[in-house]
Amino acid sequence: MAKARVQFVCQNCGTVHNRWAGKCDSCGEWNTLVEEGTSSGIGAGPALMRNARKGRAVALTSLDGDIEDAPRIISGISELDRATGGGFVRGSALLIGGDPGIGKSTLLTQAAAALARQDHRIVYVSGEEAVAQIRLRAQRLGVADCSVELAAETNVEDILATISDGKRPDLVIIDSIQTLWTDMADSAPGTVTQVRSSAQALIRYAKQTGAAVVLVGHVTKEGQIAGPRVVEHMVDGVLYFEGEGGHHYRVLRTVKNRFGPTDEIGVFEMSDKGLREVANPSELFLGERNDKAPGAAVFAGMEGTRPVLVEIQALVAASSLGTPRRAVVGWDSSRLSMILAVLESHCGVRFGQHDVYLNVAGGYRISEPAADIAVAAALVSSLAGIALPADCVYFGEISLSGAVRNVAHTVQRIKEAQKLGFNQAVAPGGSSELWKDKSFSLSETKALAELVAELAAKAAAEKNR
Ligand code: TYD
Ligand code: MG
Repeated sequence: MAKARVQFVCQNCGTVHNRWAGKCDSCGEWNTLVEEGTSSGIGAGPALMRNARKGRAVALTSLDGDIEDAPRIISGISELDRATGGGFVRGSALLIGGDPGIGKSTLLTQAAAALARQDHRIVYVSGEEAVAQIRLRAQRLGVADCSVELAAETNVEDILATISDGKRPDLVIIDSIQTLWTDMADSAPGTVTQVRSSAQALIRYAKQTGAAVVLVGHVTKEGQIAGPRVVEHMVDGVLYFEGEGGHHYRVLRTVKNRFGPTDEIGVFEMSDKGLREVANPSELFLGERNDKAPGAAVFAGMEGTRPVLVEIQALVAASSLGTPRRAVVGWDSSRLSMILAVLESHCGVRFGQHDVYLNVAGGYRISEPAADIAVAAALVSSLAGIALPADCVYFGEISLSGAVRNVAHTVQRIKEAQKLGFNQAVAPGGSSELWKDKSFSLSETKALAELVAELAAKAAAEKNR
């Protein structure tokens, strides 16, 4: 008999190794290899081929055909519906990721209650909390009277048997995917194989019955859904629920959506009675900003495929040192030197006698060259001592010749800025061809000198007043 082969699966990236090692060669993470059997899950295959059956022919069909009347179930929580692209799609699986304690269970309890009030059958399965704890939360949220069906269970086969009983549920919420285990895989709960097999079983259920399934996933320190990124590929939609430590606002971001746009965000505020929708998020984001202070510019950036608005703060102060200081937090220091050089040689702005400090607010790190013009605006604003317009965002790459170059995702950046309450943008030339909405004014800047001249004129006018 063949020796039972074991293999080691990286819990971070899912790579299969034949031998144990302290570090995964594929993703470089330490201590992530876990021994898993090969009888099922990843690596299962040839051994099971002996009892493989002959394939059955399936009926092929056409694109044009019957679909269910209401393909989406709308929760009525408009920020959530916006992020899902107009409601949960029947027969789809959605993954919601987020840090522990960010409010995923709270959001889903509120969504479940709102849907149950519209006479949908909603099943909430928690593998993390006991029924009493969920009830306690529901009481706190004031939704304890809703007809949400509740279970505390972690075995996938049991869950499927439970929800297949009676009328088909409209929405099944699984909190969280990492706690599930299935009889089909023989490794421990939380391992890649278990998470993948469990997700597969639930997604199959969703596709077969037409119920919408929402899976909650934990996020690692690096901000990825813990364990298998593969689950992200299997589901129809991925949402991230994010928030800043010490702040009350939460942002629900669409990362993947097979049935809608991925550039949407929903904004909430955590209160003592659960999550409150924030219809005008700019109050929250701008509330912490001192928009009268010189040296601050808002950069409309992109993080991967997601738009983010970040404040860039600059302080230019007279220096008593022979070699003035240049200190940067959250950005590339050689890039700063480049911007300073371009400002000096093409725009006549002198920094030789000044210390320059640059900080990206909120602990962000920007790697995009599109931040160049925001940095330049913050530097000039600090040097001239005049504040930039509070409702303006900046984006564009600066070349060594002083020209402002185009960057990708113009529309997404402006859309995010508009959503967050900004009314104007300083953008590279040609942007207005992409953005036609006149309520948001675009000032196209082809050369950095134009922006500097504008700021200098403003500073002079202020001085004469
Ligand atoms: P929870 O939904 O349990 O987070 P997750 O499921 O993402 O781990 O939310 C936990 C946090 O939310 C907890 O720190 C308490 C806070 N909270 C409120 O501030 N108000 C509320 O009404 C509720 C229910 C929770
Ligand atoms: Mg939870």
